[in-house]
Amino acid sequence: MGRAAAMVTAAGAKLPVWERALPAWKDTVPGANGETGNERPLLLGVDYYPDQTPEKLWEEDARMIAEAGLTNVRVAEFAWGLMEPLEGKFDFAWLKRAVEILHKHGIAVILGTPSAAPPPWLSSKYPEILLVNKDGVTVQPGGRRFTCPTNKTYRKLSLNIATEMAKAFANTAGVMGWQIDNEFTLQPHARCHCKFCREGFQDWVKAKYGTLDSVNEKWGTVFWSQTYTDWRHIPVPLPSNGDPNPGLVLDYDRYQSHACASFAGEQLAMLRKECPKHFVTTNQVGAPLDTLNLREMYRDMDFVSSDNYPGFAQVFMPALASPEVMASMIALGHDSMRCVKGGKPFLIMEEQAGKAGQSFFAPQPHPGQLRLWAFQAVAHGAMGVNYFRWDSARFGAEEYWFGMLNHDRSKSIGFDEMARTVKEMKSLGREGLESSYVAEVAISFDHDSSWALSVQPGNSKLTYMAQLMAWYGSVASANTGTDVIQLDEDLWKYKAVFAPVQYVVSEKQAENIRKYVREGGTFVAGFRLGVKNESSQIVNAPLPGLLRDVMGVTVKDPVPVYTEKLGVKFGSQLAGAEAQCALWADLLKPESATALAMYTGAYESNAAITLNMFGKGKAVYVGADLDPVSLARVLRTVLAISGSNSAIQAPRGVEVTRRRAGDKEWVFVLNHTPEEQEVSLAGKFSAVVGNGPNNGRLPLRAYDLAVLQGA
Ligand code: GAL
Ligand code: ZN
Repeated sequence: MGRAAAMVTAAGAKLPVWERALPAWKDTVPGANGETGNERPLLLGVDYYPDQTPEKLWEEDARMIAEAGLTNVRVAEFAWGLMEPLEGKFDFAWLKRAVEILHKHGIAVILGTPSAAPPPWLSSKYPEILLVNKDGVTVQPGGRRFTCPTNKTYRKLSLNIATEMAKAFANTAGVMGWQIDNEFTLQPHARCHCKFCREGFQDWVKAKYGTLDSVNEKWGTVFWSQTYTDWRHIPVPLPSNGDPNPGLVLDYDRYQSHACASFAGEQLAMLRKECPKHFVTTNQVGAPLDTLNLREMYRDMDFVSSDNYPGFAQVFMPALASPEVMASMIALGHDSMRCVKGGKPFLIMEEQAGKAGQSFFAPQPHPGQLRLWAFQAVAHGAMGVNYFRWDSARFGAEEYWFGMLNHDRSKSIGFDEMARTVKEMKSLGREGLESSYVAEVAISFDHDSSWALSVQPGNSKLTYMAQLMAWYGSVASANTGTDVIQLDEDLWKYKAVFAPVQYVVSEKQAENIRKYVREGGTFVAGFRLGVKNESSQIVNAPLPGLLRDVMGVTVKDPVPVYTEKLGVKFGSQLAGAEAQCALWADLLKPESATALAMYTGAYESNAAITLNMFGKGKAVYVGADLDPVSLARVLRTVLAISGSNSAIQAPRGVEVTRRRAGDKEWVFVLNHTPEEQEVSLAGKFSAVVGNGPNNGRLPLRAYDLAVLQGA
């Protein structure tokens, strides 16, 4: 736990500092909405923009927010221009008035520090703060997140406004926590390549490697005459008429990730000092993006926060047309965010409230979907949701993003559904909302592999994310609960661990996997396993490199698949129709392993899938890029072999998850399909939300859900 100070309660549980402030919270929030006693409010709120709303409407807004049953707002994360209209001239009076009105209505406040959108006076006076994109083009002001994470001036001015804000609100009644900045993971310009980042990178490389000899060796700079003789000669990856050095690029990704984490870290350290009674988090684009190593960014924060915009994803990813696939991608986002802090409950800081959109509209969610999507987040471990946003903006770049109110301030078409959802969530109580997600299996989501593969995909169509999504979908559809982890974390608690395209394998990871399998775990890896070391050099051993003994195979040849048709034929253990092999075929030669499937066609004498008994456990190598149906069948069979089986039989498109606190368990059953579905349950259950089962059968209407407890 990063929070230095923790208090031990009478019951022996450790409370973080902001929880210790609960009595103070009670004193400052008389009759906070829906709350009793010393409890801080549940985080069932809405993102609110008093900065964009005439002051005469604030009172009405606060009243309506409270009437809708909402308990908190997040405000001000884009209001730098109003809070510091001129350099060094601060004005928080308006925000204080807004907080006061909200507080009077029992609405708690999360304040956002505004560094994601510096005002024009700042970018005009200090143009050196602007981000330089991967093509070397300076990104211009006019949007947001157009800034360099390294630049000292930008850092100083960001910390400065945040500090003034913190001092102004440290003891303001109603304020309970902070969101630092907004969406460090925002793409498409996720990396800066300016001269300050170049110097920052050079310093970071020096601190990491110590000597130039070591850098030259780890990056293999002798290739194309790149040997560095001065730290200041080290470049950043910009267009150079030839592909960049893979070791340098992987380190640059790490540096940029670190720069964002340390940028946020400066504000965090200040907030801890100025506002010890408040919680601190930061919000990310929630979809499973690989932009940053979020574990570093959140290490010392109180909890993880993210967006939940299924409808937005629908527009950008036509492949998500099917409700099951969409539900699975969104679930992957939740599972990965939850696991950033080891499974601790997280917050949806921005939950879709209507049609999503910027220059276009995403579809209006069907009746039931707003409720379903919000509950899906809770089903995957969220402790609350904040809808985005209260009103719909009549000006600015997001006029087409619909809030809980329409542009004319009437209640939106989904308003009542959201109010109902909030009420139902309250019925789970803090205990339910802050319980632990139950996961029997885990899947690796590895930045190093993703970053390294994006520089050298091997087959230009191969992407880490597509593989991760396909594997996650296959594994998670078994409904036995899936954590999204890194392979150097604790593995012993999982019945099976899956690792699609684990292209980079560190010695520490290899040792951890070896121990896990030896002691009885089931490890399932995809093709391109262990090709590279942490410096993005190809390992100096037959593939799969450090894991050859565990997997019990040698990759005879790694084969990209382009136009030729390649098939995979299954042996008796995986019996099923022949599969198509698409982008990649690792031709496997079993050593101690046995073949579970063989290639057909040109590579027919080679194994495509193998199983190795290693110590007390099993290691499965899936060498072929299988078509989705076959992949799902194979991974589900392996799951069953590992002993992970759901007691609840749910049809396709129906998700089942579990959360637990002590001996209490909540079972979430979510129908993502537009048709009625039926689930069979063994054992006795009663409903906390929705309808309960009858004679072991639970019918669910289109987009309906139930939360059950064992009776
Ligand atoms: C998020 C962001 C919000 C708003 C919303 C809708 O990515 O944090 O500020 O832009 O999406 O686009
Ligand atoms: Zn920069």
